[in-house]
Amino acid sequence: MAPVGHKSDVSNESLEKTFSMKGGKGESSYVNNSQAQAQHARSMLHLLRETLDLVQLNSPEIPFVVADLGCSCGSNTIYMIDVIIKHITKRYEATDYEQPPEFSAFFSDLPSNDFNTLFQLLPPYGGGSMEECLASNSHRSYFAAGVPGSFYRRLFPAKSVDVFYSAFSLHWLSQVPDIVLDKRSTAYNKGKIFIHGANESTATAYKKQFQGDLAGFLRSRSKEMKRGGSMFLVCLGRTSLDPTDQGGAGLLFGTHFQDAWDDLVQEGLITSEKRDNFNIPVYAPSLHDFKEVVEADGSFIINKLDVFRGGSPLVVNQPDDAAEIGRALANSCRSVSGVLVDAHIGDQLSEELFYRVEHRASSQAKELLEQLQFFHIVASLSLA
Ligand SMILES: C[S@@+](CC[C@H](N)C(=O)[O-])C[C@H]1O[C@@H](n2cnc3c(N)ncnc32)[C@H](O)[C@@H]1O
Repeated sequence: MAPVGHKSDVSNESLEKTFSMKGGKGESSYVNNSQAQAQHARSMLHLLRETLDLVQLNSPEIPFVVADLGCSCGSNTIYMIDVIIKHITKRYEATDYEQPPEFSAFFSDLPSNDFNTLFQLLPPYGGGSMEECLASNSHRSYFAAGVPGSFYRRLFPAKSVDVFYSAFSLHWLSQVPDIVLDKRSTAYNKGKIFIHGANESTATAYKKQFQGDLAGFLRSRSKEMKRGGSMFLVCLGRTSLDPTDQGGAGLLFGTHFQDAWDDLVQEGLITSEKRDNFNIPVYAPSLHDFKEVVEADGSFIINKLDVFRGGSPLVVNQPDDAAEIGRALANSCRSVSGVLVDAHIGDQLSEELFYRVEHRASSQAKELLEQLQFFHIVASLSLA
């Protein structure tokens, strides 16, 4: 077991280099724990298609460029890129143009994303003509490339992308606000590993971080988007005006996960300071938090900006099986935060922590299934 006070923390400076969803294809990998995201994204396909209908079609001699920001390593991104390209192709077919353009798809995420697993899941490029590829379901009809880097900064050349898509990613902050980690500050998140139920100063610091990050995102995309381009963004959101009530994200990170950290402290496996130095860099914004930034940036027209009920993050085969629900919660939590936890307390203590999450969640399985619901902010934006 790692000693108390294990030293390999993820500092704010290195978050961008180390953070990722759990890679590979193991039980707690993102690949095996992203069915809920797939279901939630599919329930919003009509909204995505409405956004795609607003994109201006250029001459087919110019390649059509799509980018998924925060693509991760599962098959969700491949499915969505396919939906986007098929829809745009249909739109070209309905015009006087004789053939659709060639398509280019950029899969973008932080550098430690498991791009290898993602690329292995990609179907082969059709090889024949673009029309043949588009007609085939076992081949992809686009040229694919990976783009490592933070979406809070520039990733593409100016005016080069027609459609930006980003799902379930923008609630991840670029860092935990420094003052939240500063013991002398009123924003120090003592006793907590998330802002759900935290004090007002902590929540205000998180809100400022989210809004500053989103401003950087919009500034970068406004430069990279082609005239006539659009983007479709989905991230965790909340319905409460109060940022210390993080809704579904609050239940995921603020209850059994929090209790499991407290267990490790009480059992003397880590110090309370070690726990207090760990904070989940997630902020589920309200509609107002999000809108304020889009309006202040001013580069985009808002086609749609709303908060929708997304459903549960737990996909289970047997809703009466408490053990399965406990496992699903622990895996779901681990697939998205496991890399950060491993880096903070080491693999063995991380194993202990998620074992406790699973155990605690199984004992409250019925309540979890009833209460754990995500809300999502959905934004459809076009260049002003
Ligand atoms: C929950 S996954 C979403 C994956 C995928 N879009 C889907 O629908 O299943 C969130 C992704 O956002 C990525 N992410 C978080 N912060 C990021 C940043 N600053 N820049 C780029 N990607 C980021 C994470 O690495 C992770 O792969």
